[in-house]
Amino acid sequence: MIASSNFPHFSPPADPHSYAQGPDLPHLRLDLAVDFARRTLAGSATWQLASPLLAATTLVLDTRDLRIERAEALGGHNGDFTAGAITALPCALGAPDAVLGQALRLELPAGTQAVRIAYSTSPGAAALQWLAPAQTAGEHPFLFTQSQAILARTWLPCPDSPGRRFTYEATVEVLGPERGQLLALMSAENPQATAPDGRYHFRQPQPVPAYLLALAVGRLDFASISERAGVYAEPATLPQAAHEFTELERMIAASEQLYGPYRWSRYDLLTLPNSFPFGGMENPCLTFVTPTIITGDRSLTSLVAHELAHSWSGNLVTNATWNDFWLNEGFTVYFERRIMEQLYGRAYAEMLQVLGEADLRHTIEELGADSPATHLRLHLAGRDPDDGLNDIAYEKGCLLLLTIERLVGRPRLDAFITEYFARFAFQSMDTDRFATYLTQTLLSPAEASQLNLSAWLDGPGLPPGAPVARSARFAAVDAALARLVAGTPPADLQPITKEWSSQEWEHFLRGLPPTLTATDLARLDATFRFTASGNAELLAAWFPLTLRAGYAPAEAALENFLLHVGRRKFLVPLYRALLATPGGRARAQKIYRLARPNYHSVATSTLDEMVGGEMVSGEIVSGE
Ligand code: BES
Ligand code: ZN
Repeated sequence: MIASSNFPHFSPPADPHSYAQGPDLPHLRLDLAVDFARRTLAGSATWQLASPLLAATTLVLDTRDLRIERAEALGGHNGDFTAGAITALPCALGAPDAVLGQALRLELPAGTQAVRIAYSTSPGAAALQWLAPAQTAGEHPFLFTQSQAILARTWLPCPDSPGRRFTYEATVEVLGPERGQLLALMSAENPQATAPDGRYHFRQPQPVPAYLLALAVGRLDFASISERAGVYAEPATLPQAAHEFTELERMIAASEQLYGPYRWSRYDLLTLPNSFPFGGMENPCLTFVTPTIITGDRSLTSLVAHELAHSWSGNLVTNATWNDFWLNEGFTVYFERRIMEQLYGRAYAEMLQVLGEADLRHTIEELGADSPATHLRLHLAGRDPDDGLNDIAYEKGCLLLLTIERLVGRPRLDAFITEYFARFAFQSMDTDRFATYLTQTLLSPAEASQLNLSAWLDGPGLPPGAPVARSARFAAVDAALARLVAGTPPADLQPITKEWSSQEWEHFLRGLPPTLTATDLARLDATFRFTASGNAELLAAWFPLTLRAGYAPAEAALENFLLHVGRRKFLVPLYRALLATPGGRARAQKIYRLARPNYHSVATSTLDEMVGGEMVSGEIVSGE
């Protein structure tokens, strides 16, 4: 049904967040030693060209905080560059930029087949978090990377742009006395057991962009879930993780049924220590997840569906630059809810949609209804993408797809999306290219004018006519809230609340009037035990209420949460709520001083400004 043969050739847009230039680099060979004592990765990155250079050419790579030891051009022919000439290259590092880092400029002679760069990382490399044993669930150190959006360049010299892809192979050697007990994993084909000599080999045969490079090293065990899916976690966490994620294979099967084959061989999860700054990260073959979604009742697994969906939206069809981030995240949120609908039914997916729309309205309000930050297409040149990326891409992006769904019907939209993933697999996509493809292959002229795509892409807030989700289950929650506000004692609501899911509780907590007093909260807590909840989403919705009301019995639990959880999505609103209380700044700073060593740089870079205050950065030593 889709006539795409005449679809115009695409020349990728310039990426404002990368210095990279020069010949294609279709393959990377990485050789790294992991040194926990020094907190460095050291070794070499060898970038292979598609064919020997016919003429001298300049190559520019991204780096940030790297120590470049040496660069060499490798000659040779027929792909065997190891046997050929080796030419030492002068390395010219450009002026450092706080966000973009430093361009590494190399003049490659004719005949160059590959470029080898020997380097080491700095202990403060922003992508890396080195954890002391006390910061893990066990008794060994831990290392993990977080490369998205532009942090890959802090652990290897690379073309760090989502529009540039390469296959890779890696050798990772874990150094030190514990080498035999630590397992290394990457966003690639992975080992399932620890190697006594601490040496690991990896292969990613599908071309990936640099932001999907990932490495983790720790005392990790593996549990199989199906032939092609499993979970890695620290031994103390593995049984709960394996129990929480048993539906993984069903999620993969549902995804394939929706939008075509899973193209990455295995799909495993790695449950990280608590300091992981995100909920999840879609590293190919090995999604990284926060342990805060392990609740015991599988109630927060939509996050896994989300990261899995990125195996299509994002990892197959990739945003060309961070300005097109909504193409990664908006599709993924839509896809995530379709997976959840397939597994748990329409009513469940509706709850997720209503919660998402509430988040969206809240974000639009916060950013300002006419703020350019609420456009789907972003203009992040000159800014740190990490500051510029927000909920809009996720929820407004998803809402655009729901609007199209309503316009053309599910069967047509589903066929379009399936075709889109197949046609543009392993390619990048930008907003204009998508708009052209959509209007040429899916929409009739009448549908296109009804949709008004440009209002979605380049207009603020929500275009008129954006759909509004309804949830019958939330209507029951609203009724309970109304009774509560009218004076019904919490205990009398228990017959209704008994069967509530995490989502219904979330809606309930968000719907509580902000005027509740400490006494009101004490009564709620006595019945519903929020302060003692093991569900991080519920705690994160409860604590702002307790802070506003000055409900003292929740103080210790909040402190404990802030000291142990590193997920930025929770930390930012909680510190903000804490700062807004009387005497809150001093308390926030006291907690932050203790907690900061447990946070990843992604979290501290946001929080330092917010909470840091007069804290001298030298005084806050990360690590131990
Ligand atoms: N790819 C993102 C995480 C990300 C985005 C890292 C931008 C760095 C820059 C991931 O897929 C994601 O969206 N995670 C969410 C969870 C999701 C269910 C909304 C998160 O971490 O909260
Ligand atoms: Zn995502």
